[in-house]
Amino acid sequence: MYTEKVMDHFANPRNVGEIPDADGVGETGNPVCGDIMRVYIKVKDNIIEDIKFKTFGCGAAIATSSMVTEMAKGKSLEEALELSNSQVAEALGGLPPIKMHCSNLAADALHAAVNDYRKKQTGN
Ligand code: FES
Repeated sequence: MYTEKVMDHFANPRNVGEIPDADGVGETGNPVCGDIMRVYIKVKDNIIEDIKFKTFGCGAAIATSSMVTEMAKGKSLEEALELSNSQVAEALGGLPPIKMHCSNLAADALHAAVNDYRKKQTGN
């Protein structure tokens, strides 16, 4: 029921952890199940240089978290904001319909981290 890619990112998640001196941090909770994802980014010259995540959630949430960090690394902030939950699910070869809500965490938490970074820059 899960694609090989989902199983791979679940078993060997990329970019797990925290960045203690992160430039931006974003957190999203999934209202459907209560799971939580937190994303940390390091930004240089408008590019996401480093990204890490911590997800307290199901396998699909961990796989989508891992995938979104891979997709966002090296991208500009604008490109990161354009990444959508469905693109992340697609990059994993799809998720079972009942687990689609799990992919909502990933891009949302990334967007929150970018917005947090921008807020810190403008000091608002
Ligand atoms: Fe909560 Fe999947 S069951 S994110």
